[in-house]
Amino acid sequence: MPNSLIRLESVTKTYTRGGETLTVLDRLDLEMQAGGYFALMGPSGSGKTTLLNLLGGLDQADSGVIEVAGEDLTQLSGGELAHWRGANVGFVFQGFNLIPVLSAFENVALPLTLTPLSRAERRKHAEFALELVGLADRMHHRPRQLSGGQEQRVAIARAIATDPKVLLADEPTGDLDRASATQILELLTRLNREFKKTILMVTHDPHAAEYAQSIVHLDKGQLGRIETNPAQKNFFAQFAVDPDLLRDVPGDEGAARGPEGRVHGQPHQLHHRRWPGQRFGAGRSATPFR
Ligand SMILES: Nc1ncnc2c1ncn2[C@@H]1O[C@H](COP(=O)(O)OP(=O)(O)OP(=O)(O)O)[C@@H](O)[C@H]1O
Ligand SMILES: [Mg+2]
Repeated sequence: MPNSLIRLESVTKTYTRGGETLTVLDRLDLEMQAGGYFALMGPSGSGKTTLLNLLGGLDQADSGVIEVAGEDLTQLSGGELAHWRGANVGFVFQGFNLIPVLSAFENVALPLTLTPLSRAERRKHAEFALELVGLADRMHHRPRQLSGGQEQRVAIARAIATDPKVLLADEPTGDLDRASATQILELLTRLNREFKKTILMVTHDPHAAEYAQSIVHLDKGQLGRIETNPAQKNFFAQFAVDPDLLRDVPGDEGAARGPEGRVHGQPHQLHHRRWPGQRFGAGRSATPFR
């Protein structure tokens, strides 16, 4: 299918332990268009995390094709995979996984040290990502000085700091209260709508799944039918968006926005917001800062 960003064909993954082989994914097929937002649901132990790890190049399949962002991951060496991962995917975990001795800013800037960006560019990317998640004023806090919801927002800033095409989120709201979870879900929706991030989010929570465009169920190593989500939360129609969140990115003067930068139950004039500074993805030349 043209324009598919994620394509799995007949992917099998087994684990062998104590002489027993467990087939977790059994000749699985999946296709996701660029810009899609899928919720992945399924019973505990059904292989959701395993699937995410394969898509993010953190683990290897036994057989099959795993194409993500134009690369067949099964053909990449360990080093190539690490480079590809740095430029193309961001991970968000249930337990945030921030480094406790680093500040929010340092946590977000860390993955950028693996890119060719200059120190000044890295700072710009990290600050932009933290502003985007609404934590510009918490940049120098350590994780334990933040609430769980704020920690997860830092983790999202870290995941997007490299401007990846794909966000893989494994139960990102699993450890959060409802209000913080809603903030995270709104943020992911915004990253999908406004920044065109393709998102695959594992969740056990039907409320969280409502934010996705499509819901796909995994059970006994197989994916069920992909449901288009009739109840998809319309972020821009349902919530009054803080104008600060919609303010122009520095150097983004051409950006379209609502009359007062605020959305009041009206479909918003959406555009593909641009990341500040250079791009550095594999095989992509740097675009000048606008
Ligand atoms: N490294 C491993 N070695 C052996 N077995 C594993 C390994 N990782 C996962 N498994 C097994 O594979 C199956 C799928 O695990 P996975 O973590 O993908 O499930 P999940 O759907 O994410 O579950 P949950 O909803 O509880 O997070 C489980 O039976 C698990 O025990
Ligand atoms: Mg899991």
